[in-house]
Parts: sequence; C-alpha cells; structure tokens
Amino acid sequence: MIPDPASFEVAKSYRARALKTLSYGVSSTPRGRQLPAPIVADRAANAHVWDKAGSRFIDYAAGYGPLILGHSPSCVIDAVKAEMDRGLRTASVHAGEAALAELICETLPAAQKCAFVSSGSEAIQLALRIARAATGRTRVVKFRGNYHGWMDGVQVAGAYGNDGPGTIGQDPGAAASLTILDWGDATALAEVLTSDFAAVILEPVAVNGGCFTPPDGFLAEVRALTERHGVVLIFDEVITGYRLSLGGAQQLHGVTPDLAVIGKAMGGGLPIGAVAGSDAVMEPVSSGRLFHRGTFNGNPVSVAASIACISHLKANAQTLYPLIDGLAAQLETGLREAAARHDTVCAVNRTGSALQLALGVAEMRSLADTAQADFPATARFAGHLLQAGVQIIGRGLSYTTAAHTAADIAETIAAYDMAFAAMAREGGGK
Ligand SMILES: Cc1ncc(COP(=O)(O)O)c(C=O)c1O
Repeated sequence: MIPDPASFEVAKSYRARALKTLSYGVSSTPRGRQLPAPIVADRAANAHVWDKAGSRFIDYAAGYGPLILGHSPSCVIDAVKAEMDRGLRTASVHAGEAALAELICETLPAAQKCAFVSSGSEAIQLALRIARAATGRTRVVKFRGNYHGWMDGVQVAGAYGNDGPGTIGQDPGAAASLTILDWGDATALAEVLTSDFAAVILEPVAVNGGCFTPPDGFLAEVRALTERHGVVLIFDEVITGYRLSLGGAQQLHGVTPDLAVIGKAMGGGLPIGAVAGSDAVMEPVSSGRLFHRGTFNGNPVSVAASIACISHLKANAQTLYPLIDGLAAQLETGLREAAARHDTVCAVNRTGSALQLALGVAEMRSLADTAQADFPATARFAGHLLQAGVQIIGRGLSYTTAAHTAADIAETIAAYDMAFAAMAREGGGK
C-alpha cells in the first residue's frame, strides 16, 4: 500500500511543532534522522504502523528490535492490562520478579541469577560493575563496532576509523580503562589479555557493526582465553537475546559467557533489561555487597510483559524462530534480486531475523568493509522505502517479527523495486 504523500507533509509539520519544545523533535536522536521525515506513529497492529494521515507502513524497525511478536501480541497486551488493573506498585517487591528470573534461568544458558534494570544501557553498566566487583580489577576489552549503549564508559569505537567517543559531550576519561580490539580477532585478544583485566565484553553476533556472524572458533577462543586469565566474559545480548534463538546467541553458538546482558526482545515492547550470570560471578550483587539501584527496576508492568513474551517464545520456539528467520531469508533473497534488477551495488548481511543492507559496497564481511559503504545513500534508500510503505531502520537494518505475513514480504519486495528505481532516478546508490 503506497502511503498518501500527504503523510510526509503531516510528519514535517509535526516535526516543526515538536522542534519548538522537544530537543531534536524526538526522544532518541536516530529517530529524528528518518527520511523524508520521521513518521508520527498514531497506532499500530501486528506488523503495521499507521500515521496520523491514515497511511499504513509495514514495519521492520520493530521498535529497534524489541517487538519480536509485533506491535499487538495479545499475550503481552493482556498481561500488561491485567497487571495495571492491580495498581502500579512501582518499586514494590512483587512475585513477578522471581517468576521472571526463574523463566530466564530456564531459558538462557548463562543464567543462574538475574538482576533487573529498565534498559539495555543500564544493564551494561550493571554488568561491568559486577565484573569489576567480582574480580577487583578495572580494565575491560571492548571490540570495535560493537555498541553497548549510550553511557560514557562504553560508547566509544562504534564505527570504523573512530576509536573515540560516539558523540560530543562524553567524558573521555570514562573510557580510559578500555582496550579496543578488532571483533573477530582472537589472536589480538590472546596478545593483549592478562589477568589484569576485569572483563571482555562483546556482541557475540555483531548486529550493530553490520550483522556479522562470529568467525569459526572465535567465541570459543574468547571463552578459553577469558577462563585462562580469570577474566569475566560478558556477552551483550541486548539484541540477540530471545531473538536469535530462545537461548540467544550463546545457545546458537554453544558458548556460555559468565554474564549475559539482555533487553529489547525480552520485554516484548516494554522497557526492561537484565544481567544474568553464574552464581559465582553474580555473587557481589546477590549478596547485597554491590549496590544495585533503580527506582523503576523490576516494575510490575514491564515484568508482566516480559513473562508473557518469554513464555510465548518458550512455548512456540520450535516454530517461531524458523518462521522469523525464514521471513528474513525471503527478504534477503528479494533484496539481492531487486538490487541486481536495478544494477545497484548493495551488500546484504543476515543473521537470523536481523537483515542489514548497505549501498555502495558489494560485500560487507567485516567492520573494515563498512568504510566503503555509502550510509547516506542507504538512509535515502530507507526514505524511498518509507514512501513505498515500508519502514526499516535508517542505517539499513530490518527485523522480522512473528507478526509479519507472506503478504507483507511480497509487498516489501515490490517496495524494494520502487526504492531502487527512485534511487536510480535521483542518480545515487550505484
Ligand atoms: C547490543 C546493544 N547493547 C546495548 C544497547 C543499549 O540498549 P538500550 O537502548 O535499551 O539502552 C543496544 C541498543 O541498541 C544494543 O544494540
């Protein structure tokens, strides 16, 4: 369904209004970069979002990952409504906390103990604090291109060629204890790692860098090296947890970290994050020695949503993961074929239900290849897709969900053609 062009005029006039009182007109900067203008979501159901003008978009932004069951899964929405009917009980101890922890311990290989927060960024801070408390050391290895949230201590080395801060205003001293290495290079890690380090943190599958699957043996080698030096291994599974499989990337690749950081999909769309790990490494927080704070931690509504979402994923794992991966595989094929039809150079990477495209480069095998990619053109392509009725994340990332249908996929592949044709007309993307 082609959106009414009036939609983008409505979006632009909303943005003009919002910019007067809301910084950058949005609540998270990337949302403000959507081309031709950030659409204003009025309502959503299943895999579709409608804007104020009544245009319908097939949504692969999926809330930047969390909406693994789509926008209106009855299990999550019913659980949230039922929980709200019992009063908000913010910051109270409630039985849902232990129920959710039990569910995570049943499903995530690393989990023997859990601790809850409200976002992935917070969960990363907690994991690093636990690792430092457990070892009595401060140094941490971080890998280029991996994103671990927006806090000063980790938002560095996010893009190829920039090992520095991700934005202005960061305290450069906050990341002083990090050693930055290339993701996928176990030899470099072997050369650097000593028992001076508290932790090695990584995205086990590097969705943020460009949807990279770990090279053969990399995760096992990182596990062996961290064990050898008594260093805490932290898998940042904020994207991959409950998305790549019920047990995340750790289950899929058969390597169990000491600590796993989860968020996004675990909440089915509500804000929640968690650190889950072995009894031994979680001891500082489990014993109460390490202060784990947060007014909204474990709030009943997010916890209820998370219990409902994970329970649904657990009950349906055998069919749900092959379904969402299969839908993404169809998009992958459709995208490659559409690019070829329009004689456009376009790299397509897929890991499970996450699909990354980048114009200007034929293949993107590692972060170094992203230097050749044309991300401004990729964002313009995403803008043309939006005008053809399909929403993806502007940097070229799409997530399939259990709510997408075969009809959505067919419509999306037709939209790829329209977007490539529009790029050709404006003379970009070759
Ligand atoms: C791998 C990874 N870790 C951490 C985060 C931070 O999570 P949040 O945005 O919920 O703070 C993100 C967010 O995109 C992420 O992709």
